[in-house]
Amino acid sequence: MDHFQELESLFASDGPLAKIIPGYLPRAAQVEMALHIAKTITKKQNLIAEAGTGTGKTIAYLLPAILSGKKVIISTGTKNLQDQLFNKDLPVIRKAVSMPFSAALLKGRNNYLCTFRLHNAMQSNFGFPIEDAAAITKIKQWSGTTKSGDIAEMPEVPESSPVWFHATSTVDNCLGQDCPDYADCFLVKARKQAQEAEIVIINHHLLCADWSIREIGFGELLPDAEVIIIDEAHQLADTASNFLGISLSGKHLNDLADDSLAEYFKDATDMPDLRSASENLQHGIKKLRLAFGMELKRGEWREIESSVKILASITTLQNQLTKLTDQLKLGSVKTKGLESCFKHSQELESRLQKIIQDDSGKWIRWYETHKNSFTFMLTPLDIAA
Ligand SMILES: Nc1ncnc2c1ncn2[C@@H]1O[C@H](COP(=O)(O)OP(=O)(O)OP(=O)(O)O)[C@@H](O)[C@H]1O
Ligand code: SF4
Ligand SMILES: [Mg+2]
Repeated sequence: MDHFQELESLFASDGPLAKIIPGYLPRAAQVEMALHIAKTITKKQNLIAEAGTGTGKTIAYLLPAILSGKKVIISTGTKNLQDQLFNKDLPVIRKAVSMPFSAALLKGRNNYLCTFRLHNAMQSNFGFPIEDAAAITKIKQWSGTTKSGDIAEMPEVPESSPVWFHATSTVDNCLGQDCPDYADCFLVKARKQAQEAEIVIINHHLLCADWSIREIGFGELLPDAEVIIIDEAHQLADTASNFLGISLSGKHLNDLADDSLAEYFKDATDMPDLRSASENLQHGIKKLRLAFGMELKRGEWREIESSVKILASITTLQNQLTKLTDQLKLGSVKTKGLESCFKHSQELESRLQKIIQDDSGKWIRWYETHKNSFTFMLTPLDIAA
């Protein structure tokens, strides 16, 4: 039996899928799609396939992907779909095919517990509100039991909770190989597993991150892949536009101020100007939010330019950010933590500058207000390239 016949036989009415999936019936469209994918992989070509909802596209791409024996990256639209693919669909397929294969799930950096930052948050005398302190304690307990460090495993502290900021890392604040926890780092482990596995399940955001190599040290994943399958591909254009855009939000700035304050309380109480610069930035963010008025809205940058009040608040905020950068620069010789805050602050400063000054004609420049925050965005007009 050749490769294609073997694939087709898996879909038969008395085949292995029929034994495992309740109500299984062979579907011509599903088999056709699977065979097309198998041929495309063999011939190293590109294929775009479209089929209605419920056709069974997942199995139609998983089977040829696994039977190919190649290194395959599968990208899907959301983290939930990723979890479903890995925890529900793959185990079914594992039972149906006799061939063993290794698989790994990889999400973006901010989905993994950072034990180093968690430890720091617990050490610093930085006053967390009671409920945040309780959440941090829960995360600490969980950190001793989790194998993956994937924060989706911890429903008690929702992913949207701001405390995760203190228990996850960003490219800017991760110490990488200089980190004392590097050997046991969940993120490093997840990436290593992804590099070694035959089937790697990622999401579109990560796929875009890898393409643009914005996430340093991660760019080595895609070149290894022999096959890339993009499920929910209709969502990719939006993700790419967002990803290739430039954004700056009140939350980004607040996180920086929080981090700087935590560093101040931990290692730099001899720098009172660092504390006031961080607190001034927090005030500036609130003031700018208020300048937009209470109602939640989204609009073109022109609207901002026609409001004296908003423009003045942006200028104040920009000055406050510069002052904080200056303080962090002074502190950066003291500790790695202050150094990484300094780099982060510089990065936010340059992003804000880019957004404010843009007249390139390459971007759509817009803003959005949230309950306690705001976002400024540059979205590329054309992402085709
Ligand atoms: N041939 C089949 N007979 C019966 N059930 C099937 C068959 N193939 C797949 N299924 C089941 O159908 C359900 C839907 O499959 P799947 O999620 O792959 O659909 P889909 O084509 O990806 O749809 P969507 O576009 O909504 O993502 C799953 O529960 C799957 O186990
Ligand atoms: S290497 Fe980075 S992500 Fe890992 S524990 Fe250290 S700081 Fe956190
Ligand atoms: Mg699907």
